[in-house]
Amino acid sequence: MCGIVGYIGNREASGILLDGLHRLEYRGYDSAGLAVVDGKQIKRVRVQGKVAALASKLKQEPLSGSSGIAHTRWATHGAPSEANAHPHCDDKGRVYVVHNGIVENYAPLKQELQQEGHVFSSETDTEVIAHLISKFLDENTPLELAVKKVLKLIKGTYALLVIAVAEPGKIVAARQSSPLRLGVGQDEFIIASDASAIANYTKQLITLGDGEVAVITRAGYTISELHGEVDLDKDIEEIDWNLDEAGKGDFPHYMLKEIFEQPEAIKNSLRGRLLVEDGQAVLGGLRQVEDRLRKIKRLHLIACGTAYHAALVGEYMLEEYANVPTEVCVASEFRYRKAILDPETEAVLVISQSGETADTLAAVKEAKEKGLLTLGIVNVVGSSIAQATEAGIYNHVGPEIGVASTKAFTSQLTVLALLTLFLGRQRNMSLVIGKRIAEELKALPLKIEKILAGSQLISQLAKKYVRVNNFYYVGRKYNYPIALEGALKLKEISYIHAEGAPAGELKHGPLAMIDSNFPALFIIPQDSVYEKNVSNLEEVRTRGAKLLAIATAGDNRLAGLADEVLYIPKTLEMLTPILSVVPLQLLAYQLAISLDRDVDKPRNLAKSVTVE
Ligand code: F6R
Repeated sequence: MCGIVGYIGNREASGILLDGLHRLEYRGYDSAGLAVVDGKQIKRVRVQGKVAALASKLKQEPLSGSSGIAHTRWATHGAPSEANAHPHCDDKGRVYVVHNGIVENYAPLKQELQQEGHVFSSETDTEVIAHLISKFLDENTPLELAVKKVLKLIKGTYALLVIAVAEPGKIVAARQSSPLRLGVGQDEFIIASDASAIANYTKQLITLGDGEVAVITRAGYTISELHGEVDLDKDIEEIDWNLDEAGKGDFPHYMLKEIFEQPEAIKNSLRGRLLVEDGQAVLGGLRQVEDRLRKIKRLHLIACGTAYHAALVGEYMLEEYANVPTEVCVASEFRYRKAILDPETEAVLVISQSGETADTLAAVKEAKEKGLLTLGIVNVVGSSIAQATEAGIYNHVGPEIGVASTKAFTSQLTVLALLTLFLGRQRNMSLVIGKRIAEELKALPLKIEKILAGSQLISQLAKKYVRVNNFYYVGRKYNYPIALEGALKLKEISYIHAEGAPAGELKHGPLAMIDSNFPALFIIPQDSVYEKNVSNLEEVRTRGAKLLAIATAGDNRLAGLADEVLYIPKTLEMLTPILSVVPLQLLAYQLAISLDRDVDKPRNLAKSVTVE
């Protein structure tokens, strides 16, 4: 988490840095700051709070200079406060640092520095980096060498930008497990946690790899390895999306924009990948491992949060249609489990929107260590997980900025359906079933548009239920994970308590909570478990709960059973989650808006979870 951005060129830096921070704010927003090189001095402004507060403070205390570094924070060590906001500097004001990641061994390093007389002014782990660089920096040790010395001492993760009074025309950048990209412009360079902070200025990008250090001046840049001296010849990539895609357009929030982008996002995920007449999926990213995939006897799907819910749906798809035994595990558990894995016949597939989630990345490393084939479903091109996995499938849904994942989720489900088709046709799936899945996949965008066209109804519903403090979300089979996802969406952006439960489990405990103030929302499309779900719904109704239902269009029976019914178009059972989650995203959004919540930046959360 945390967003960092640096600029060096011929323009005023502070406006460019501030613009970058606004675009990176989804990564953390409890405090912000920037430092600009002004002649022979470095000046810094920091605030507790959002980037808007920093912008106001900068109006009072403008900073002038054509290079600088900036940061928007999601607190790990030390509460959100001005003193803990980045950039941090040493006690002599010689070196300024912004950092995304965690210095795991900061405590002994800090103790040692304090014994040597260094005085600390924050509770952060980052401040030790500034003190250590300052300690090593002298006439014979240029900034990059001092930085490299320090990086060899610290343990943990970092994306780091460093400036020093002694070398005002230079930014040193380094990366280990936290993303960092260098934008190469005309006589100017922007270096940031992600491309959205760069795309306004240049489309030419270099992705720094783990263990790489960049030295950037107005004249150019060099990149070398932490333990090496030779300059690396890194490829420059071209950003293939424009900033409009990363802006809010006419929508009041990114989350709403991204919910409405889903028809287009799914089209993009499917583009060039469906051969409807052959009932086949063409997955170029898996071509090199196609033969190995034929031999796979078990797949392990690993992810966190919303992506984990996608994996749970994927398990039903892959087992039912592709005949591939599948296990799902939360990434933070997988890395500490003693999973029994067979490198000959098993593979790991991780799912991650950002491609930077620390636990998911660690799971990839663990699986590789065990010799397993590692695959990824990732949205951010060139991200750490995309690079670490052997093969994979990109979502291609463009930047997802809202902290609550929406379009990435439906795309993950779409890609899992494509994978099911791909693996299924390698195995026993018939042409007829393959064609059916392909046809239904192709029809999804239009069906989502129909659901979105009814969004007004959901906003009225939200007004009715806004005073409710608890919700159950209930589903079975393919829609059990959607119950979990619907509840997560509601919790994270509205702060209303919600729990997801498998319909069959209600009577094993959860029913005890049900009363007239504790509504249950059933996801109950006309599928193979419909009748069972109706019985469960009746059990809840009998106990006096208010009932909401997500049902298949034309299901009049439910209209007589539930207090409120939201309809979704009919589709193949395995694809119903891609439709049924959309009204739940809208309901969470509308309830959060009615409660005046900051939906794009919910409290205590950040978009990219790069810490354990
Ligand atoms: C919830 C949400 C999170 C993420 C999770 C994994 O709306 O967005 O639960 O799904 O943090 O993130 P990625 O997919 O980037 O690995």
